Amino acid sequence: MTLQIGDLAPDFTAESATGELRFHEWLGESWGILFSHPADFTPVCTTELGAAARLEPEFARRDTKIAAVSVDSAKNHRTWAKDIAETQGAQVNFPMIADSDRSVADLYGMIHPNASDTATVRTVFVIGPDKKIKLTMTYPASTGRNFAEILRVLDSLQLTAQHQLATPADWQQGQEVVITAAVSEEEAAIRFPGYRTVRPYLRLTDQP
Ligand code: BEZ
Repeated sequence: MTLQIGDLAPDFTAESATGELRFHEWLGESWGILFSHPADFTPVCTTELGAAARLEPEFARRDTKIAAVSVDSAKNHRTWAKDIAETQGAQVNFPMIADSDRSVADLYGMIHPNASDTATVRTVFVIGPDKKIKLTMTYPASTGRNFAEILRVLDSLQLTAQHQLATPADWQQGQEVVITAAVSEEEAAIRFPGYRTVRPYLRLTDQP
């Protein structure tokens, strides 16, 4: 069954390039991002892992741990990580899960047989501190993901979790945000003084 937003992110124990990973234990109280790529030693994946490695300090600043997964072996992950460092200018310091038996891929529905019988597609699962799935993305093998966008949606999710605020289309850090319907007018006046009512259902305020 497809994992959906709000579902518990399944726990697993798997080998990684740097040793055994107990997923829920490793996540602890942090946010987490689990993302799959089709294969080591392929061009688009090399650029993606480089992009994720460059942004890892930004994810860490948001109390978010990231982990990559593919059906390649831990040995291949370790060798490929050297290529990534040399060609992308960034060291992969996050876990690279070696899912040779496809158990993680099956648990998370990362293999889409009509795309490929053997390789994972490019999935992203953002997981909250409650271990529930907050966001999913699926890209085909031919399209590299925008990791700045993944950071942007993480900012939006964390804003919602902390302040009952939502983010409008194309929102970027520092721009106005949306007060959700869960906040009454009385409460909005106290929590977001000076907020703007464009329509009763469209209320905007500065980002806290
Ligand atoms: C790539 O990363 O370039 C790639 C991987 C698998 C299939 C197609 C492209």
